[in-house]
Amino acid sequence: MAAFATRLQPLFAQAQTPARRSPNDNINLALIGAGGQGQSDTRWAVQVPGVKLVAVADCYNGRLVHSKELWGNDLFTTRDYREILARPDVDAVLIATPDHWHKTAAIDAMRAGKDVYLEKPMIHIHADGPEIIEAARATNRILQVGSQRVSSIVYAKAKELLASGAIGKLNMVSARWDRNSSQGAWNYTVPLDASPETCDWPRFLGSAPKIPFSAERFFQWRKWKDYGSGVAGDLFVHLFSGTHFITGSNGPTRAMATGGLRYWKDGRDANDVLLALLDYPEGFNLSLRVNFVDGGEESEGFLFTGSEGQMEIVGKTNSVTVTRVPLAKEPGYSIGTFTNAMQAQTLAEYRKKYPVEHPSGPPPQNVETFAAPAGYSDSFDHFTNFFASVRSRKQPVEDATFGFRAAGAALLANMSAERDSIIHWDPKLMKIVNT
Ligand SMILES: NC(=O)c1ccc[n+]([C@@H]2O[C@H](COP(=O)([O-])OP(=O)(O)OC[C@H]3O[C@@H](n4cnc5c(N)ncnc54)[C@H](O)[C@@H]3O)[C@@H](O)[C@H]2O)c1
Repeated sequence: MAAFATRLQPLFAQAQTPARRSPNDNINLALIGAGGQGQSDTRWAVQVPGVKLVAVADCYNGRLVHSKELWGNDLFTTRDYREILARPDVDAVLIATPDHWHKTAAIDAMRAGKDVYLEKPMIHIHADGPEIIEAARATNRILQVGSQRVSSIVYAKAKELLASGAIGKLNMVSARWDRNSSQGAWNYTVPLDASPETCDWPRFLGSAPKIPFSAERFFQWRKWKDYGSGVAGDLFVHLFSGTHFITGSNGPTRAMATGGLRYWKDGRDANDVLLALLDYPEGFNLSLRVNFVDGGEESEGFLFTGSEGQMEIVGKTNSVTVTRVPLAKEPGYSIGTFTNAMQAQTLAEYRKKYPVEHPSGPPPQNVETFAAPAGYSDSFDHFTNFFASVRSRKQPVEDATFGFRAAGAALLANMSAERDSIIHWDPKLMKIVNT
């Protein structure tokens, strides 16, 4: 691990108004948090033309070494991300630390003049949201949150279909992200060399309660609320981001949730089953489910129900299907208990008023499917959009406000389940209305 000796600019220098970049400008990227998602994100990020990875920070030596194995020995690596933020050659950072570091790392980076791609959930607690939004505004930095499906062509198609009235007036969205495996339930492998020497435990803990080294907490941090945000922050947040992007809504006004630790009773304090119901001011309800013991395969998807049909997004096939079923124009009848004569008379009157709409049989179902091509990556598109924003200085769709509205809504579910009460939220002002 090389120490960064020459401080070319003071840590957390005041941000200057960024110059507008030309579309061909090269962008030097640094990664903060080189675990599963950090490495996966970086593989996509460096495929965007003009983007180069120059530095990596992580708290586990093995991941710093592996970063060099992946991206070359010239890479600057450190346990202390402030050394990266002090480098003038770094234009943007990708933050993929555990959730409890998101706010601090993002604000530190923006104050140091870097643009930020911040993994979801944007926040760990609600108080983080306004601070991140304000820092992005005050420093004039680009901040994009990492719910990559917001850049997916499948979600863009769903948004277009909904807006075109394909399913009429939306009244309900139900979404799920179920899993049924140990890896799916966050039991990630702890490396054989995990120790206080190879893992920078105090730095990992940050603002979390100080406790003795635990390799399990370091590598499986999602299982504890001190570092993660439960299944709501991990997975509901994607479903909120998708719902908000597709419907254009700012978020729910009411949230109620219930759940429990149903299977993975291994010392974790985060639930493995969570169900939430939410009211949206646009006049629809959202129901959400995460089940880590669902008896089947991992399944991610949405069902949008409207007055004239349904629209389904299926994660496995990366597709959206619309089934148009307009409500019948006639009200129907219920006459079977009347006398035969009254039935005949009522039916005759009814048919005079409502002639048979489709005499040759039921109307054909109008089904339309759009699927992303094989090999399509919404992560690549999300990074393409991020770097386009870095170059144009125009905030991306999934900016800090969007990120707070999605993650803030997700945390309402945790709060409701923990407090055993309905939580009211102002989605425009992004504030809890009752406590
Ligand atoms: N967008 C997605 O689909 C998606 C998927 C997975 C994870 N994520 C998000 O990415 C983030 C990381 O998740 P992960 O699965 O990669 O976790 P991980 O445990 O595999 O990696 C996190 C890394 O951060 C490092 N780290 C911790 N504190 C640090 C600090 N102060 N400075 C530098 N490095 C630090 C750890 O050493 C670890 O290597 C989470 O917020 C998660 O929600 C997003």
